[in-house]
Amino acid sequence: MTNITGKTVLLTGASGGIGEYIARALAKEQATIICVSRSQNALNKLCIEIKVLGGIGIALPFDISKVEELPVLVKQIQGIVGSVDIIINNAAIEKYRPFQYYSLEDISSILTTNLIAGMELTRLLIPAMIARNSGHIVNIASGSGKKGAPYNSIYSASKAGLIMWTDSLRQELANTNVGVTVICPGYTSAGMFLAFGLPAPRLAHISKPSAVAIAVIRAIHKNQAEVMMDGFLTKLLFAYIQLFPDFGDRLYRWIGLTKLNKTCAENQMQVPRKRH
Ligand SMILES: NC(=O)c1ccc[n+]([C@@H]2O[C@H](COP(=O)([O-])OP(=O)(O)OC[C@H]3O[C@@H](n4cnc5c(N)ncnc54)[C@H](OP(=O)(O)O)[C@@H]3O)[C@@H](O)[C@H]2O)c1
Repeated sequence: MTNITGKTVLLTGASGGIGEYIARALAKEQATIICVSRSQNALNKLCIEIKVLGGIGIALPFDISKVEELPVLVKQIQGIVGSVDIIINNAAIEKYRPFQYYSLEDISSILTTNLIAGMELTRLLIPAMIARNSGHIVNIASGSGKKGAPYNSIYSASKAGLIMWTDSLRQELANTNVGVTVICPGYTSAGMFLAFGLPAPRLAHISKPSAVAIAVIRAIHKNQAEVMMDGFLTKLLFAYIQLFPDFGDRLYRWIGLTKLNKTCAENQMQVPRKRH
């Protein structure tokens, strides 16, 4: 899809973090943005900003983890705008824990919000895109989907699933004008990682949320398959780590990522930290 101007975009997770920046970038392209998240006030505020920037914002508060109710959301959207041209599956949650401390409810809510909801929204909307032979799906994954993040294993599994689902879907749609992209941000100076107030591991590149938003726009324009926010060298490094996971484990320990994630888990569980 070369042109976003005048197109209708469904953006989940619009109310905060990176989603807000994606919404602003889409507004500058004069898109109509259906902004979905649970926080009505934040969405309303964002839609005012979208208008000022040149787009049209429609706030639709909805809990996408209620996947069985997503057909209702889709009907509501179709009633307002007719058809959706672009879906950006951005909403996600994470919860740091040693694996044995996750409840079944934790596992289910993370996988449902981060992976199944995006699949279901896409499943409901993609037949119309295929019929029109036009559209684009953008899935916001993470570097954590490329190499397992210790103490954030369910989030990692959800993002790895997102990357592979995107890869499969793109191949299925290769002979159509429906594009499919996965964006893999690393540490970003907005949103869920910033919320911890902890420094990123050493040598880790920190992306600006505006750079992620620009990458989303460019990926739609150019129909890119996969975008790694941390650049080509990081892409090569992740490829090497796929071949030699033990090396990746040692690297994560050396840069302090393993310790950082353990600290995040301890903070979230509010247990006293143990010395090593
Ligand atoms: N920030 C980073 O460092 C980083 C790094 C790599 C990848 N990413 C990815 O980038 C994307 C955006 O992350 P972020 O950092 O901007 O996260 P964030 O600040 O925590 O925002 C998450 C968004 O998802 C929405 N959301 C969560 N659960 C929802 C639900 N059940 N129904 C509807 N909306 C829901 C939230 O809104 P409500 O709470 O109002 O529902 C919020 O708008 C995610 O896919 C994340 O995995 C982020």
